[in-house]
Amino acid sequence: MSPTKDDGGRGIRIRGVSKIYSGTARPAVDDVSLDIAQGEFMTLLGPSGSGKTTMLSMLAGFASVTAGSIEIDGREVSRLKPHKRDLGVVFQQYALFPHLSVAKNVAFPLQQRRMAKADIAAKVAEALELVHLGDFADRLPGQLSGGQQQRVALARAVVYQPRALLMDEPLGALDRRLRDQLQREIARMHRELGMTFIFVTHDQHEALTLSDRIAVFNDGRIEQCGTPAELYERPETLFVAQFLGESTGFRGTVDRAAGVLRCGPHALRAPLLEPALDGADGVVVVRPERLELHVEAGRVAAGHNRVGATVTEIVYVGDRHQVGLRFDDGATGTATHPVGPPLPAMPGEAVTVSWDPRHQAVVADPTGSSVPSPAVEVTADA
Ligand SMILES: Nc1ncnc2c1ncn2[C@@H]1O[C@H](COP(=O)(O)OP(=O)(O)O)[C@@H](O)[C@H]1O
Ligand SMILES: [Mg+2]
Repeated sequence: MSPTKDDGGRGIRIRGVSKIYSGTARPAVDDVSLDIAQGEFMTLLGPSGSGKTTMLSMLAGFASVTAGSIEIDGREVSRLKPHKRDLGVVFQQYALFPHLSVAKNVAFPLQQRRMAKADIAAKVAEALELVHLGDFADRLPGQLSGGQQQRVALARAVVYQPRALLMDEPLGALDRRLRDQLQREIARMHRELGMTFIFVTHDQHEALTLSDRIAVFNDGRIEQCGTPAELYERPETLFVAQFLGESTGFRGTVDRAAGVLRCGPHALRAPLLEPALDGADGVVVVRPERLELHVEAGRVAAGHNRVGATVTEIVYVGDRHQVGLRFDDGATGTATHPVGPPLPAMPGEAVTVSWDPRHQAVVADPTGSSVPSPAVEVTADA
């Protein structure tokens, strides 16, 4: 896990936090530790049921912690009531007061804090400007679209300048186009406010687009935490490789001394491996845009890995071609090819697939089969 900047105790420190709901045996959140720097955009990404909402609820104070500690700006908060934590929260459902105007919805948290009337009007106007709803102050929530309602919820959550804004799948109820638009709005708000944002999603594209760092949740634990590029280029587990982006995986056994992964007839170059992987079942994972296709095997660069394959299909998806591959042992995978340059081969033709080992990741194979199965397809969003 990456360390955070030293900013004099500001930021959020989560230490050994677990949650076991009463009447259940398995922890919903299992010994999670995470530092979130002041001003950081941190995303909790994972499949449904992986513990993201539970983690966010414990941060916000809506769920108690079973074990562990949560510090916000140097203060232990895990036993404090939600309103004492000074956090803004936005959920998937808009949760606006339907009988109050937009302005009154946004004013509500300020009235609760007993702010002077004149100050409230100024703060509300500022917050509505921030979400570009200055002209909608007198409307009722029912007179707004879903995207606009969610922007009101965002304005209401930041109007009292909380220490952080917590969002749980805030775009989940919106259609694709609105979601993309609001994603950009949230990124802009983050830049303008400089506030810590903690964002929960199961959508890998949303996470990659928005985040400074992403914590990937699986079964109540953090599998890996890092920048979008670190997670995409250097996944540390097969789960992370599969959950973020597409990849082709080659299963085999690691021979660390020889610097290779042995799979069937192939010995794939895999230099500089972790000692823990030696002799273990491993998977060489390669992203589709790193695979090169050659009709003549002689064209493969020295030092690159190579595997024989047949092109099964070519699908034009607008900004690129997706090239389906069947490797010599029968397993499948995908490469991408840019639009413009001629296609290297057509369906049914044999190719040599190659890649630079610096652009692969080698991860432990959790299925650990003793029967080597040279190549497997690994797809996103299983
Ligand atoms: N109130 C609850 N009581 C019992 N189990 C719960 C409760 N809320 C969530 N869970 C369980 O905790 C696990 C994590 O759930 P959740 O935090 O909602 O995951 P996510 O938000 O990643 O989908 C799941 O197995 C879920 O069924
Ligand atoms: Mg959830």
